[in-house]
Amino acid sequence: MIQVRNLVFQYNTTTVLDDLSFSLNKDETTVVIGRSGVGKSTLLRCIVGLVRPTSGSILVEGADITAISEEELNLIRRNFGVLFQGAALFNSMTVSENVAFPLRQHRNYDKQKIREIVREKLSLVDLEGCEDMMPSELSGGMKKRAGLARALALDPKCIFFDEPLAGLDPIIAGDIDELILKLKKVAGMTMMIVTHELLHGFRVADKIIMLHEGKIIATGKPAEIVESDDEYVQQFLRGLPDIRSISG
Ligand SMILES: Nc1ncnc2c1ncn2[C@@H]1O[C@H](COP(=O)(O)OP(=O)(O)O)[C@@H](O)[C@H]1O
Ligand SMILES: [Mg+2]
Repeated sequence: MIQVRNLVFQYNTTTVLDDLSFSLNKDETTVVIGRSGVGKSTLLRCIVGLVRPTSGSILVEGADITAISEEELNLIRRNFGVLFQGAALFNSMTVSENVAFPLRQHRNYDKQKIREIVREKLSLVDLEGCEDMMPSELSGGMKKRAGLARALALDPKCIFFDEPLAGLDPIIAGDIDELILKLKKVAGMTMMIVTHELLHGFRVADKIIMLHEGKIIATGKPAEIVESDDEYVQQFLRGLPDIRSISG
C-alpha cells in the first residue's frame, strides 16, 4: 500500500531519519517503536505528507508523494486518517460536530446522511450517546476515541496513530489496544502506529519496525523481533519481562 524508499530527514545539520526503507502492507498493522526523540513523529508526518523529507521517496499506491504538487497531495491525503498525540479535537464543537467536520469539508452529503455516518463512527469507537458532549467533558480515553471517530469519518484506507496511549492510565490504555484490534477486525484497515511503548506495540502489531539513532535496527513479526540477536534490540526488550508471553 505504501512504500518508503531511502528516506532521509534532516533538521539543519542533524540527520533524524537516515536512509529508511520499508513498506506498510495492506490490511496490516505496522508499529514503529523507538525511544523518545528517535524521529517517530517526524517519520509519520513525512508519510502523511505534512512535511517533505530531505531525500528519498514515499510511494502511495504507486504515486511518489514527495514529488507531487500540494493539490495532488491533498487528494491522496483524503485516504489517510490521522490520530495525533493530543487527539486535537476542536474545543468549541460538540463530539458529533467534530466527527462531522471532515464530512462537511469534503463530501456533499445532506444532514441526515452526515448524522448517520457520525452515529456509525461513534458506535465503532464505543462512544454512543456522547454526540452532544463537549471535548472538555470527556476523559482522556474518550477524547482519543472521539479523535479516532473523526479520523475514520471519510473511510480512510489507511490510519495513522501517533502515541495513541500517551497520557492514559493502564486500564484505559488497554481499552484503546482492544479498540485498535477491533478496528482491524471490523474494518480491515491498514494501520501505522508510532509509539515508545513496547508492550502496546507488541500487542497490536502484525509487523514491528524498531528505530534507533535514525536507522531501522530490526523489522519483522513480534515473535521474530523477540528472537533477534542484535544487542540493542535485546537491551530494548529487557525492559519488558513478559514480552515472550504476549508475542507467543
Ligand atoms: N521542528 C523541529 N526543528 C528541529 N528539530 C526538530 C523539530 N521537530 C523535531 N525535531 C528533532 O527531531 C528529532 C525527532 O523528533 P520526533 O520525531 O518528535 O521524535 P519522537 O516522535 O520519536 O519522539 C528530535 O531530536 C527532535 O529534537
Ligand atoms: Mg513523537
